[in-house]
Amino acid sequence: MNHARVIDIVKENKDVFTLSFDFSIVAKPGQFLMVWVPGGKEIPMSLSHITSPPSITFRVFGETTKFLSGLRKGDRMYFRGPYGNSYPEPSGRIAYIAGGTGLASVYSMLSKYIGDVFVGARTKDDLFLLKKGFKIATDDGSAGFKGTVIDLFVPHVDDYDYVFVCGPEPMAKSLLDKIDRKTKTKIYFSLERLMKCGVGICDSCSVNGIRICKDGTIFSIEEVLKMNEFGVFKRSESGKIEFFAKNKR
Ligand SMILES: Cc1cc2nc3c(=O)[nH]c(=O)nc-3n(C[C@H](O)[C@H](O)[C@H](O)COP(=O)(O)OP(=O)(O)OC[C@H]3O[C@@H](n4cnc5c(N)ncnc54)[C@H](O)[C@@H]3O)c2cc1C
Ligand code: FES
Repeated sequence: MNHARVIDIVKENKDVFTLSFDFSIVAKPGQFLMVWVPGGKEIPMSLSHITSPPSITFRVFGETTKFLSGLRKGDRMYFRGPYGNSYPEPSGRIAYIAGGTGLASVYSMLSKYIGDVFVGARTKDDLFLLKKGFKIATDDGSAGFKGTVIDLFVPHVDDYDYVFVCGPEPMAKSLLDKIDRKTKTKIYFSLERLMKCGVGICDSCSVNGIRICKDGTIFSIEEVLKMNEFGVFKRSESGKIEFFAKNKR
């Protein structure tokens, strides 16, 4: 396991933080780390910046992200990785679709490949890392388009050569359901599942036997369409099947 010192921790909004650390990392856009702080668990975190200094951007969700948010300049943090594949090199017109903290993952692409960024959040208070020109959708209409980022994006799919998507599974599933499957646009998803080992051993992140941590996390739309468990159910920490709300029986 590697360790690094915190260089800075910036509060982006009420519960999202960006933590930069002093480590000379060799990573590709879309890769993730398994991060640990004393007292917490090891959790997967996308790199929001892969150039020096690297950073992660996270929402305080449970115990470990709470510990992470309490770190201060000079404190030690620990990690393994980077792990996972990376976004493929795009050409032509590019769009990024990010829901919630999915923006952290697509952010790692933005310094290299300029594109239109579609961001979805519950309310304007949940937005973070915004840049001029980002196209915003909020569930309550408090900023930008009122509705989901998928509804904002879908009419424009054919305007792009490459689309990169990262966000909650129901958001990605909604894109699969609403998109015209005949589109020539190349679409890639960064998938998130509960991860324990992060390196393909424990199977806790599997979808239809595909290990999201090791075989992904980035998959083409054609690969995701073959995963009939995707967007239907996931596994809890104990391995129990949990259906996504829409699919509850
Ligand atoms: C590849 C990958 C990259 C990620 N990148 C980011 C990022 O950049 N920023 C960010 O804020 N979050 C990211 N996450 C999600 C993040 O890892 C979880 O929110 C985090 O593990 C929560 O840890 P916690 O200890 O704070 O909460 P916990 O106490 O562990 O979380 C409470 C509950 O949430 C559920 N849960 C935890 N992790 C996950 C998960 N990965 N998928 C589904 N349910 C889960 C479990 O049921 C758990 O009991 C990423 C996840 C993956 C798989
Ligand atoms: S997290 Fe263990 S196999 Fe993916």
